[in-house]
Amino acid sequence: MQFERIIVVDDDPVIRRMLVSHLQKQNASVLGVATAQQALDEQKREPADLLIVDLQLPDSNGLEFMQAAKALGQPVEVIIMTGFGTIESAVEAMKLGAANYLLKPFTLAQFDVAINQLLEQRQLRHENAYLKEQLTAENDSSELLFQSTEMARIDRLVQRVAPTNATVLIQGESGTGKELIAHNIYQQSLRKDKPYIKVNCAAVPENLLESEFFGHEKGAFTGATGRREGRFELANGGTLLLDEVTEISLALQAKLLRVLQEQEFERVGGNRTIHVDVRIIATTNRDLSQAVEEGKFRQDLYFRLNVVPLKIPPLRERKGEVEFLLQSFIQRFAKKHRKPAPSISPLALEQLSSYPWPGNVRELQNYTERAVIMAEEGRELAFGDFVLTAPPTTDSVLDTGDGLPTVAEMEKRLIQLVMKKTKGHRNEAARLLGINVRTLRNKLHEYTTNGHATNGAAAEHDDADDSGESSEEN
Ligand SMILES: Nc1ncnc2c1ncn2[C@@H]1O[C@H](COP(=O)(O)OP(=O)(O)O)[C@@H](O)[C@H]1O
Ligand SMILES: [Mg+2]
Repeated sequence: MQFERIIVVDDDPVIRRMLVSHLQKQNASVLGVATAQQALDEQKREPADLLIVDLQLPDSNGLEFMQAAKALGQPVEVIIMTGFGTIESAVEAMKLGAANYLLKPFTLAQFDVAINQLLEQRQLRHENAYLKEQLTAENDSSELLFQSTEMARIDRLVQRVAPTNATVLIQGESGTGKELIAHNIYQQSLRKDKPYIKVNCAAVPENLLESEFFGHEKGAFTGATGRREGRFELANGGTLLLDEVTEISLALQAKLLRVLQEQEFERVGGNRTIHVDVRIIATTNRDLSQAVEEGKFRQDLYFRLNVVPLKIPPLRERKGEVEFLLQSFIQRFAKKHRKPAPSISPLALEQLSSYPWPGNVRELQNYTERAVIMAEEGRELAFGDFVLTAPPTTDSVLDTGDGLPTVAEMEKRLIQLVMKKTKGHRNEAARLLGINVRTLRNKLHEYTTNGHATNGAAAEHDDADDSGESSEEN
């Protein structure tokens, strides 16, 4: 980063020329003038972004000139040069908006330091502005979309609890919007202008989590080359999100309990007690009360966290939500990718509404983004544009809860799933399963007459000898 144009204003020709030539060597566009009037005229003609101004000018003083130059409306940085013994004016200059000052006499090295400091500050301001912009951009997609009564209820709870300092525990399956809801609570809280800090307890390795929470002193452990502030300290005055809080060890749970109770802790390897004021929001995708029963989660910590419980229902249990979210996400992603918003066929809408959405809103959002990107103009989106993998997932076919299913059992579940997906169309189902229709018909017949699975050999027989075919089962 560099200054575009610099004007040096000093009636002392030696200093003026020295600075101009020094800056020119650094490829800056520089102009030297002797009076405030000349400088102002230049500034009106072609504004500089840096003015280096002597405090004593023949026709004015540097501070007045600075104010006049700033009043022109162009953003401009000013460095004031003052003679020895006028440190008060230097302080005054800073108060009036000078970016820095130089006490005469100064060396070119000191001059360079002052310029570089300014450039660094400017760089930081740019980054800051950029980050803020990014945050606002992020906030656009941090709106909680919903239509179902189930989520309307959650939203009312959010509104009510947000402005309090109460600890909130958000429970729900993965992808149901727990983090988004946590962020909404923060945004609607009285701490919205204070830090919002997040720790993903599932992502940080167990042995580093304590230091992540509480920070460490230099040399606390191998690799602790300097002091580091932990998340609790960074969140001081604000909000701390403990994401997937169930993933922390019992030992660390004890330490966490203490901070929640006392709002104080020590850094790893340190003995100074640090006090903080932090509002806690925790999330988990597990059943916490069950984790407590199993001895994996401390009961006292559970009570501490569970002051205000929010249970986010999975997407499949929210009535009418899928269709609403689909339409909302289509609009959002069409805008984002600068494409016309495609429409969905009524059949696809129906199929998507009855799809179980194991990955919840995250899955729906990702599928919709892909579908919008891949959409061809003028063609309605079909189920297959969203859900590329066939519904029989490991969850639905393999998962028994108690050990592995038998091959026959899996076959039965797969067939039933595909039948459901094809809404009972046997030809279509047989095609998807890669078997002939007669085989499928036989198997379906077995299921209805036996009420349980048989081995595959039964398929090629008629239903008359069902009992014989299933005799090897017990
Ligand atoms: N109701 C909703 N409205 C808009 N976006 C949502 C909603 N629920 C979830 N999302 C989006 O889905 C993704 C997953 O949500 P997230 O809060 O990370 O879920 P979780 O933390 O429960 O796994 C995020 O991109 C989030 O913005
Ligand atoms: Mg999450």
